[in-house]
Amino acid sequence: MRQMSPFVTFLKLVELQLWITGAVRSYALELNLTNSEKATCLYAKWQMDFKIRYETANRDYKTVTISDHGTATYKGSICGDDRNGPKIAVQFGSSFSWSVNFTKAATTYSIDSILISYNTSDNTTFPEAKDKGILTVHEPVAVVIPLNNIFRCKSLSALEKDGVVQEYWDVLVQAFVQNGTVSTKEFLCGEDKNSTTVAPIIHTTVPSPTVTPTPKGKPEVGTYSVNNGNGTCLLATMGLQLNITQDKAVSVININPNTTDFTGNCHPQTALLRLNSSNINHLDFVFAVKNENRFYLKEVNVSMNLGNGSVFSFVNNNLSYWDAPLGSSYMCNKEQTVAVSGTFQINTFDLRVQPFNVMEGKYSTDLAQDCSADDDNFFVPIAVGAALAAVLILVLLAYFIGLKRHHAGYEQF
Ligand SMILES: *[C@@H]1O[C@H](CO)[C@@H](O)[C@H](O)[C@H]1NC(C)=O
Ligand SMILES: *[C@@H]1O[C@H](CO)[C@@H](O)[C@H](O)[C@H]1NC(C)=O
Ligand SMILES: *[C@@H]1O[C@H](CO)[C@@H](O)[C@H](O)[C@H]1NC(C)=O
Ligand SMILES: *[C@@H]1O[C@H](CO)[C@@H](O)[C@H](O)[C@H]1NC(C)=O
Ligand SMILES: *[C@@H]1O[C@H](CO)[C@@H](O)[C@H](O)[C@H]1NC(C)=O
Ligand SMILES: *[C@@H]1O[C@H](CO)[C@@H](O)[C@H](O)[C@H]1NC(C)=O
Ligand SMILES: *[C@@H]1O[C@H](CO)[C@@H](O)[C@H](O)[C@H]1NC(C)=O
Ligand SMILES: *[C@@H]1O[C@H](CO)[C@@H](O)[C@H](O)[C@H]1NC(C)=O
Ligand SMILES: *[C@@H]1O[C@H](CO)[C@@H](O)[C@H](O)[C@H]1NC(C)=O
Ligand SMILES: *[C@@H]1O[C@H](CO)[C@@H](O)[C@H](O)[C@H]1NC(C)=O
Ligand SMILES: *[C@@H]1O[C@H](CO)[C@@H](O)[C@H](O)[C@H]1NC(C)=O
Ligand SMILES: *[C@@H]1O[C@H](CO)[C@@H](O)[C@H](O)[C@H]1NC(C)=O
Repeated sequence: MRQMSPFVTFLKLVELQLWITGAVRSYALELNLTNSEKATCLYAKWQMDFKIRYETANRDYKTVTISDHGTATYKGSICGDDRNGPKIAVQFGSSFSWSVNFTKAATTYSIDSILISYNTSDNTTFPEAKDKGILTVHEPVAVVIPLNNIFRCKSLSALEKDGVVQEYWDVLVQAFVQNGTVSTKEFLCGEDKNSTTVAPIIHTTVPSPTVTPTPKGKPEVGTYSVNNGNGTCLLATMGLQLNITQDKAVSVININPNTTDFTGNCHPQTALLRLNSSNINHLDFVFAVKNENRFYLKEVNVSMNLGNGSVFSFVNNNLSYWDAPLGSSYMCNKEQTVAVSGTFQINTFDLRVQPFNVMEGKYSTDLAQDCSADDDNFFVPIAVGAALAAVLILVLLAYFIGLKRHHAGYEQF
């Protein structure tokens, strides 16, 4: 292994102001680490944010989103030496720090593991937190990359552990840079390889001026969870599309999980999942238990800003959707509609939800209730069955009529 002095001679941060979906300002982090010979040993440019759920003094739970606001520092980032591998360390203020370390093998290097620590004693970042001091999350990632290749992952990677959701995107990183030159050979993550539309589409023709409202695409699928202190107690994975009709004008809004926060609570008989974003004040899903053995979606309570200063609010606490046995999850991959009112409906895609009895942060392995039981496909066997029954009845009728005629025939004698 080439001897790298741990001496950091150059540390550079470029704060690229990016606007993610027009609402949340995010900065790209960039680090160019050089060794004692001023040769680049590690280069990284990426974006990340964190949603941390913490317990409050009054036994409640809150979630904060932690991201860079242009004040990130990189103290502790090292090129590595014989004893320690390279490491990127980032601090967002004084109460949050993040680091990742790298290891090297014969022909590959690995992104080894991520370590996060946050100080719940800091009541500006964690208002009303029950003081638990410093908490840490250790996440082994073990991404293996060929040497002299730069790892690239534009797609979003989200990891959830110990109440912390970590999100990474637009990642570009190379450790063990050879001869001080960052490689041009890219090693793509699986998500990028699969998405064939990563490259921007360049319009060669001027768009037609006749603007026909293009049908909204499918919403992105988000994973939402609620933690009650004993671990995850509610899990939901779904793409959500809101359809609001006001004054005969229809607004169809896809919920972007990247910019949506979630909280909630769990009780023995009810569970709440609350989403909010820059224009959704709250979108509550309330689940209840019925007959002591099934759960269902009982209530939706929404309040959102419609852009022009008007607020749309609606509650329906008399719903009956997503019904499944307790201890299992409800699943529906096809598009399904929750009609909250005549003017407000929620279209769900690739839905899976378990509001009760979540064990070890995972969906129950018990057979999930699947909406395909009432799928159109089931109409076919039902139709065939009905047709068969009709034929059987006809045959029986014919038989009895025949028998009677026969009988009657004899009686004439
Ligand atoms: C990193 O810093 C070195 C030394 O200043 C410079 O030569 C190199 O171009 C920088 N690389 C990138 C990718 O910014
Ligand atoms: C990387 O960091 C993690 C967490 O601090 C640690 O457990 C692991 O041993 C480190 N790996 C190396 C190769 O230093
Ligand atoms: C955690 O935050 C508290 C309050 O800001 C501070 O007094 C304490 O020194 C911090 N702890 C560490 C280890 O930084
Ligand atoms: C934060 O903690 C300090 C003492 O550590 C206290 O003086 C202050 O009032 C607290 N602020 C809030 C908003 O709770
Ligand atoms: C969410 O973030 C990822 C990573 O940047 C991006 O690929 C995806 O398009 C984003 N989704 C939306 C709906 O903006
Ligand atoms: C680095 O330099 C050495 C010696 O000059 C050369 O053999 C090697 O191919 C170079 N590696 C790269 C990746 O350019
Ligand atoms: C990419 O697609 C292949 C085949 O379609 C699949 O096996 C693989 O799991 C996918 N990888 C990711 C990261 O989605
Ligand atoms: C956590 O789990 C334990 C054992 O399962 C239970 O006794 C305790 O009441 C739970 N605490 C909360 C806050 O749910
Ligand atoms: C939205 O709701 C209106 C009125 O209920 C309906 O006509 C329309 O098809 C819905 N659109 C979508 C995309 O769900
Ligand atoms: C969601 O609500 C919380 C608390 O009301 C707020 O701090 C947070 O910024 C909101 N999230 C978004 C994405 O607007
Ligand atoms: C709907 O949610 C709002 C905000 O949390 C709350 O004030 C209101 O009481 C809720 N409505 C119902 C019927 O639960
Ligand atoms: C806002 O838009 C909605 C629907 O487009 C409309 O019904 C409402 O009157 C508008 N409100 C204002 C204050 O313009």
